[in-house]
Amino acid sequence: MSALKFVPRGSLVAYGAKIAPIRSACVVSRFFSVAVSHSEVTVEALKGEHDGIRVISLNRPSVRNAFSRKLLGEFSNAIDDVRADSDARVVILRSLVPGVFSAGADLKERLTMSQSDVGAFVNKLRETFSKFEALPQPTVAAIDGAALGGGLELALCADIRTVGKGARVGLPETKLAIIPGAGGTQRLSRLIGISRAKELIFTGRSLDANEAFRWGIANHAVEDGFLKSLELASEMLRSGPIALRAAKAAITTGTPLDLATGLKVEQLCYNEVIPTDDRMEALKAMSEKRPPLFKGR
Ligand code: COA
Repeated sequence: MSALKFVPRGSLVAYGAKIAPIRSACVVSRFFSVAVSHSEVTVEALKGEHDGIRVISLNRPSVRNAFSRKLLGEFSNAIDDVRADSDARVVILRSLVPGVFSAGADLKERLTMSQSDVGAFVNKLRETFSKFEALPQPTVAAIDGAALGGGLELALCADIRTVGKGARVGLPETKLAIIPGAGGTQRLSRLIGISRAKELIFTGRSLDANEAFRWGIANHAVEDGFLKSLELASEMLRSGPIALRAAKAAITTGTPLDLATGLKVEQLCYNEVIPTDDRMEALKAMSEKRPPLFKGR
């Protein structure tokens, strides 16, 4: 079972035998957080003004957050924790390894795999990343460094991406005589268009932060992707928690459908917010000229 640790202001997050510094301490030091340890993956529940934000952090520095079976299993557990957490309103995914978001699949482990092992692992990678994509809360991926191969495929599963200075994103798999196998051929094409996705996948070229922004892979290219992600998540905290989930479901489920069916999906999602206390609270707060206090019910 995961260990719960209370993390005091401006300190290091300790989990298991490891100690990892939280970057961007200027912001993190403003609140307490509760970290759930998964060894190479940490889930933090931010407190104070950021109450409701969960931060999933990858931390496998020796191979630049490359996904082994172990890291993938821990990441899968972290997703389950966040999904089951009814107080989690927005999720940020980031790396604690300086200069890298994730180097993708663990190619050292791959060397030890049989052909059938490879197929099974890639299936698990695809399933786990899809499970992250299917989280009901809005998700933001903070890409501060290289997001290559499976690293970018994972970031593509977030609702929003921010890239920090020094970020590089790309799908270099064809250079390794394989193809992106954790959703990259499908999600990148849907995000930036088929022709641009083909160019990136056929050449295996990576883009810097500004290019990633111009190509439509990232919503924001900034100095520090994590700080921008925190800013976006904080802005979302002002929205009703049930409304956030309903809006995500409406957009994600409805957009791939024809418009008439999509509008029916929107109607079903709207029906979820009509009976909520939060909807009435928003109306009252507006008439009383005060900020609403949402309770997520
Ligand atoms: N799988 C396994 N090990 C990896 C890895 C991966 N995907 N990516 C990096 N590593 C290992 C390196 O082999 C090296 O190990 P070593 O210390 O035993 O030699 C260690 O991580 C550090 O790598 P290095 O390249 O020196 O780090 P860097 O900070 O200079 O560069 C990257 C980081 C991510 C830009 C670079 O490692 C890279 O391009 N990796 C390959 C990414 C890739 O092609 N992914 C596609 C997977 S399908």
